[in-house]
Amino acid sequence: MAPVTAPGMKTVVVTGANRGLGLELARAYIDDAFEGIRDDGEPRWRVIAVARKHTDVTHGHAHVRTRGIDVSEPDASNALGIVLAQYAPVDVLINNAAVCIGRECAVGNVDYGAWTRSFETNVMGAMRVLEAALPHLARDAVVVNVSGRMGSIGRVMAGLGASSATTQDVVYRTTKAALNMMTVCAAAEFKAKDETRDVKVVAVDPGWMNTDMGSRGGTVTAPLDPSESAAGIVALIAGLKPEDSGKFLNWRGEESPW
Ligand SMILES: NC(=O)c1ccc[n+]([C@@H]2O[C@H](COP(=O)([O-])OP(=O)(O)OC[C@H]3O[C@@H](n4cnc5c(N)ncnc54)[C@H](OP(=O)(O)O)[C@@H]3O)[C@@H](O)[C@H]2O)c1
Repeated sequence: MAPVTAPGMKTVVVTGANRGLGLELARAYIDDAFEGIRDDGEPRWRVIAVARKHTDVTHGHAHVRTRGIDVSEPDASNALGIVLAQYAPVDVLINNAAVCIGRECAVGNVDYGAWTRSFETNVMGAMRVLEAALPHLARDAVVVNVSGRMGSIGRVMAGLGASSATTQDVVYRTTKAALNMMTVCAAAEFKAKDETRDVKVVAVDPGWMNTDMGSRGGTVTAPLDPSESAAGIVALIAGLKPEDSGKFLNWRGEESPW
């Protein structure tokens, strides 16, 4: 398929786009690409769906590209950079790929292998993706780091001693807390430079969703459908203002406690 290029067409990149929230985010932009546009019109969005294993989510749409990239691999930045150079400028970048492993870990019982693998994907993977996109970002691009309430230090402090549920998952929690810090560092850095001043970077809590991760492999039922969360995040992205850069928001667009 030849790349579709049309004036006014924007590019969105989603990682972890083969299942769960990432797939729903890619689908939301694939659908939104033609919303309110005549059948013979040009799509509004080009969607770059990045997954660890190449997975075809295009459904025959010429404005969708799928790429197989493992964000935990040191070479991911180079590999993604080559892809993004073809489709620049990148208007929306959604760092969604993540793992939630070593769930039983609490202080005194930490699996360091799981911790390392989690940081490789959830934190360093997200940074690799951002660094790959950096030279290709549109002047007013939006970068979303998909975080979560389990990364909130404020929430754990508020529940201190209340239950072990607030301290389990130390592996996953620390990756999302680190991702939140990466978000504010990037937002501050971008604001300080002329060429990136208008780029907005936010951390977003997508809510507790019924995905492989949220349902703990199908053993519990989470209250939120990932398509609902995705719709909220797409609306949130469309409505972001310059002063929102550096914030931690939930999928409804409300501010979350750090
Ligand atoms: N589910 C929840 O309730 C919840 C709550 C708060 C925050 N979140 C966050 O929301 C995001 C999406 O979660 P989800 O529930 O959709 O999770 P999920 O169903 O487990 O899907 C995770 C996605 O990330 C991809 N991925 C994992 N490691 C990767 C790697 N090294 N390289 C490339 N892709 C990789 C997976 O690809 P493979 O198929 O190849 O493994 C999959 O597409 C994550 O950032 C998660 O931390 C989820």
